[in-house]
Amino acid sequence: MRNMKATTAQTAKMARNMFFLAGMAAAAALLQAAPAQASEECHELVRNKCGSCHFVTYVCPRIAKGKGAMSWSGVVKDMVKEGMAATEQEQEKIVRCLAEPDAKVKALCPVK
Ligand code: HEC
Repeated sequence: MRNMKATTAQTAKMARNMFFLAGMAAAAALLQAAPAQASEECHELVRNKCGSCHFVTYVCPRIAKGKGAMSWSGVVKDMVKEGMAATEQEQEKIVRCLAEPDAKVKALCPVK
């Protein structure tokens, strides 16, 4: 009976190791996926991040006013406080995307 127990414990340990390895593989896959997300185009990033709680058009008046990076980084930090999930890298990129909006970012806003 003692042996049985030992074997069961060993099997459990092996199973845990398998889970650990599977977890590591998943984490590695996630890490590889991260740069791909950061390379999302500006308008996609802004639409996905800034359009998830309120309409993405909340950004439009400030874009129209041509607010700079200082102002936008304050807004982005506020939105993180509101609960926005974004990595530091994504936040920095969003600030750039909003401070120097390209044609596709501007196209998120209604034409006046
Ligand atoms: C987690 C939810 C959430 C996300 C994601 C989010 N916001 Fe907001 N946002 C809010 C809430 C809640 C308010 C209203 C709170 C307030 O006015 O102080 C708000 C208000 C704003 C306002 C002020 C609107 C106005 O007319 O006064 C701006 C500008 C803004 N958000 C921009 C952004 C930008 C840019 C992003 C993307 C980087 C973003 N938001 C993402 C929750 C969010």
